[in-house]
Parts: sequence; structure tokens; C-alpha cells
Amino acid sequence: MILVAGGSGRLGSLLVHRLAAGGAAVRVLTRVRERAAHLRAPGVEIVEGDVRTASDVQRAVAGAQVVVSAVHGFVGPGGVSPASVDRDGNRHLVDAAARAGATVILLSVVGASAESPMELFRMKKAAEDHLRASGTPWTIVRSTAFLETWIEIVAQTKDRSGRMVVFGRGRNPINFVSVDDVATLVARAIADPDVRGQTLEIGGPENLTFTALAAAIAAPGPAVAPRHVPRGALKAMSLVLRPFWPERARQGAAALALDTMDLRFDPSAIRARYPEISLTSLADVLTRRSRENVRA
Ligand SMILES: NC(=O)c1ccc[n+]([C@@H]2O[C@H](COP(=O)([O-])OP(=O)(O)OC[C@H]3O[C@@H](n4cnc5c(N)ncnc54)[C@H](OP(=O)(O)O)[C@@H]3O)[C@@H](O)[C@H]2O)c1
Repeated sequence: MILVAGGSGRLGSLLVHRLAAGGAAVRVLTRVRERAAHLRAPGVEIVEGDVRTASDVQRAVAGAQVVVSAVHGFVGPGGVSPASVDRDGNRHLVDAAARAGATVILLSVVGASAESPMELFRMKKAAEDHLRASGTPWTIVRSTAFLETWIEIVAQTKDRSGRMVVFGRGRNPINFVSVDDVATLVARAIADPDVRGQTLEIGGPENLTFTALAAAIAAPGPAVAPRHVPRGALKAMSLVLRPFWPERARQGAAALALDTMDLRFDPSAIRARYPEISLTSLADVLTRRSRENVRA
């Protein structure tokens, strides 16, 4: 049985569908059963629990041969944080898996580092270190930013005149990858014992600025220059809101980091290793999205 913590999320849902379609027994860990309602299918069990609570995690891991962690606490309901979910929640998952002798597949981020200006990246690195030292079999899958997530975020900022918001200058090249390609890699990593003890990094074929992303989302409509939130405002947001609205402060700090950090990625290593995973372009993701919108 494969436990997918975060199975109700964007990546987790794709993975659960894929594993169940392949005949695997899958258990989804979610805090609220209804959030995983779309996953109900033969072979899929849904259990409630919070990764911040060790006893919940222990119950969920019982009987699993593989534990996938696709959780994060960057944003989301329930007062989550990178420290409580990405570091401590993953620690609970790793410890329970180690006691059960289960293999752990940990979702992390390209650029995870104890020195990163991004709290999420530091907490992911702490989880990675804990896993590497745990003695249980493991594979870490580090990904760049999910295209589908960011298309949705940027598209939601569109006002009546079609103007979107870009945080900061929007000129920093950032690597984006389709979540579908990441789910394919995670499924491979689960099935392939040769990647135990390895860290796989996946990114997409393009490094794109937020300005270019906004223009591609607006097309084929008229090109409307985006509205920019100045870096100073992002900095102020990250400092002023920290004591009473930590999630919004984190978003401000992350937006600033996304505008300034080196977030490019060269996908040639992952292409060479898994030539059958076609890394999807922004244009193809947008085409797929508009077909899905027409069908809906
Ligand atoms: N999004 C990106 O751009 C990106 C980039 C690189 C790596 N990743 C990594 O890929 C993984 C999946 O990301 P995603 O964007 O697909 O996630 P998502 O759609 O935002 O979903 C987050 C998931 O985390 C679960 N979760 C959060 N706090 C939890 C808690 N305290 N206890 C139990 N479950 C909890 C949620 O479950 P419930 O709400 O149902 O409880 C949900 O299934 C994460 O590990 C993330 O760090 C994401």
C-alpha cells in the first residue's frame, strides 16, 4: 500500500489517479475527508489526519510500504507554516516510515538550502536532511515551480480591463514545470528501486519572467501591460504583516525572492535520465487548459 500525504492537492491528486489506475492500493491522508472526495475510486482509501500530529501520522503510515510526502505549509487553510508542515510534519512522516521500514518519497524544491532567503526552501532542506539520516530507503524529488499553479495565480489577478498584476519588476527568469510531468516522475520514482538514496531534480523546458507569463496568459487577447507591485511594497508587506498575518507576510517575502533570486534551471540531466518524460512547454499547458475550460 502506498500512502500519499497531500494526496488531495494538485500534484497529489494526479499521482493518486495514476497509481490507482495502475492497480496500486493507495491511502490518501487529508485533514478533511471532503477535500479528497474527487479521488474516491476502487483501491483508494481516504484517512483523516494532520501531519503536525505524530499520532495521526503513525496511524496513517501503518501498513504502508511506501510513503509519499506531497504536503506543504506555505499557504493554505488551518494555520499551516513551512516550519510546522514542511519541517516538522515531514519529520513525523519520516520517523513513522522508518519505524515501519517503509520507503519515503519526499517532494522538495529545486534550490532547497539552509541558507535560502525563502523559509519554505530552508524547511524543505531540513526535511531532506532528516530523511537522509533516517536509515529508511528514500528518494527526494525536487521540483521547480508548477506552471499550472502560477498560471492560476497570475490569471486571478486580472481586472476588468484585462490587466494582470506582476509582483516586483517581473524581469527575473524563473523555471516552471508542468505538474503533470512532476507526477509522472514521482510515479517512476515509486516504482524504480534504482533511485533509492538519490535526489532527482525536475524543471521545465523554459525559464520565463512573470511579465512573459502574464502576456502568454492574456494571449490571444490584446496585450495589456501588467500592473507592478513595487519591491518596496513587497518588503514592507513581509515585515509589517509578520506578527499578525504570517501567511500574507510569507507571500510578500516569497514574491520578493522570486523577483530577485536565481531560479533558472537546466533540465538536460532529467531529460537524459528519463527521455520518455516530455517536459511540457507553457504554450502546451495553456492549450490544454483552454480545452479543459471549453469542456467544463
Ligand atoms: N506548487 C509548486 O509550485 C511546487 C513547486 C515545487 C515543489 N512543490 C511541492 O510539491 C508538493 C505538492 O504541492 P502542490 O502545490 O500540489 O500542493 P497543494 O495543491 O497546495 O496541496 C497541499 C497539500 O498539502 C496537504 N497539507 C497541508 N497541510 C497539511 C497538514 N497539516 N496535514 C496534512 N496534510 C496537509 C493538503 O491536504 P488537506 O488540505 O487535504 O489536508 C494538500 O493535499 C508539495 O510538497 C510542494 O512543496 C510544489
